[in-house]
Amino acid sequence: MSRHERLRKRPFDTLEDNSYFAHSPIFSIQRHLARPLVPASQKFFHLQCRDRSGFPTETMSDYAGHLRRARIRQASLRDALAEHFAERDEFVLEIGCGHGHFLAAYAAAHPEEHCVGFDLVTRRIARAEKKRRDRELNNLAFFKAEVDEFLFGLPAHVRITRIFLLFPDPWPKKRHWKHRLTRYDRLERLAARTSDHGDLFFRTDDHPFFEWTEETIRTHPAWEVVPERPWPFEADTVFQGFAPRHYSLCAIRCPSKPT
Ligand SMILES: C[S@@+](CC[C@H](N)C(=O)[O-])C[C@H]1O[C@@H](n2cnc3c(N)ncnc32)[C@H](O)[C@@H]1O
Repeated sequence: MSRHERLRKRPFDTLEDNSYFAHSPIFSIQRHLARPLVPASQKFFHLQCRDRSGFPTETMSDYAGHLRRARIRQASLRDALAEHFAERDEFVLEIGCGHGHFLAAYAAAHPEEHCVGFDLVTRRIARAEKKRRDRELNNLAFFKAEVDEFLFGLPAHVRITRIFLLFPDPWPKKRHWKHRLTRYDRLERLAARTSDHGDLFFRTDDHPFFEWTEETIRTHPAWEVVPERPWPFEADTVFQGFAPRHYSLCAIRCPSKPT
């Protein structure tokens, strides 16, 4: 059993009351191991939030800090996007672009299109940015951003003409489906920012996830699956390089259907 699992199994009170550890022969080691899981601000223990198993997750004070940091991050992303799109009104988007392999190749092959990729992970964006600089691609930009924050921060006049969603995390467990990037409400938000007849290209190596996404897109009034549409551009992504096979889907934003 891992240290994390061991600590999860303990009732919270035993963590709060160090006597549990005091009677243990390896008290100091356990106290040391427990430290990263227990917030530093001990005085806020009574305000502890717990997950479903009762394990302490964040203190209220941490939560307030989390909200404050999120507001700062969102404001700075909004400013960066406003500056970037001051003189542009449409672009090609890659969501979860990882190291930027695909979008850098796409932007090099389509100098007339403006391309933007974003990803949650800072070091991936740093590597993508290096590709952009090395190849001197002036029609390409990368942002470190979360998908909902990106769409929320996008200036109102800007429209997406083409979306690539390549090998997003499949989140196979049902209780994790809410994290999927192809969730119905995300498709809704994407549709609201996509121009009429704009296209969405989705690819994954996970067949159940592919079927789930295809079904979600089919049920969404703003998108129409277009099986005959050819994949517009091929360049391996990191995950495509690992995958023995993959499944691709194209959809268009229906002008006649509301978001
Ligand atoms: C499985 S990787 C695929 C990366 C790349 N598209 C490829 O094919 O190599 C999924 C990527 O999506 C990013 N990601 C996951 N959830 C995200 C979110 N909510 N907003 C932005 N990026 C996200 C991850 O950081 C990760 O880089």
